[in-house]
Amino acid sequence: MTQQPPAAGTGARLELNSPLSAASAARLVAAATAHAPELIIDHGCGWGTLLLDALASVPTAHGTGIDVHAPDIDRAWATAEQRGLTDRVTFVTGSSEDVRDRADLLISIGAFQALGTIEEALARLAELLRTGGRLLFGSEYWQARPTPEELALMWDGARVEDCLDLPGLIGRVQAAGWRVLDLHDSTRTEFDAFEVGHLREREEWLLEHPGHPVRAELDQDWAAWLRGRRRPMGFVTLLLGR
Ligand SMILES: C[S@@+](CC[C@H](N)C(=O)[O-])C[C@H]1O[C@@H](n2cnc3c(N)ncnc32)[C@H](O)[C@@H]1O
Repeated sequence: MTQQPPAAGTGARLELNSPLSAASAARLVAAATAHAPELIIDHGCGWGTLLLDALASVPTAHGTGIDVHAPDIDRAWATAEQRGLTDRVTFVTGSSEDVRDRADLLISIGAFQALGTIEEALARLAELLRTGGRLLFGSEYWQARPTPEELALMWDGARVEDCLDLPGLIGRVQAAGWRVLDLHDSTRTEFDAFEVGHLREREEWLLEHPGHPVRAELDQDWAAWLRGRRRPMGFVTLLLGR
């Protein structure tokens, strides 16, 4: 039996690397594909889940997912294979900064940083959208202003400036020429499932290896979430048009 714990952050126990339940994702994908897009591009696609869901819901569509993290792209290809979608999807290891193709549906969930600041991303995504297209855009925001104690715990170098509040975020979206067609505010339950999902594989390993020093790392991860992110963090997914 291996004595090394599973690596942190693989998301092996999650389907999506964002705080969205399967039911929420299904509702949002249905709304985002109602215009029957021909080409769908997911910037920062992670494991490709939402792109594959969108392709499954529009049998005539083709799609491309881009992510800088090669293991995510490998997992996306494996899922596409399992779901019988490899003839309609391409996954690329690379940066969205280099993508020039325009699409009828753009997906950017928890990944606007792939295209710069939130303003830069909203402007670039507008350039990458075909006429009449839609953007499914998910971003973290502050549900409550974080205290200095919460900022010190939630992630390395966290600053109040890292996120907007919800009116501020919607204001940036509208200022960039987008209109909001749908809005899903992730629930506490969705956030908890996401955070526990990230910890679960190593928690299970620890049960099999009591006394291993990974316990201290896990305890720190719990504190970063419970005492850091859990109160102030929000995540909103918007369906946008222009
Ligand atoms: C929070 S994850 C979200 C993944 C996926 N959208 C989801 O919801 O499951 C953010 C993703 O953005 C990717 N990313 C970061 N910078 C990028 C870039 N310049 N180009 C493409 N992807 C990038 C990361 O590798 C990561 O997979």
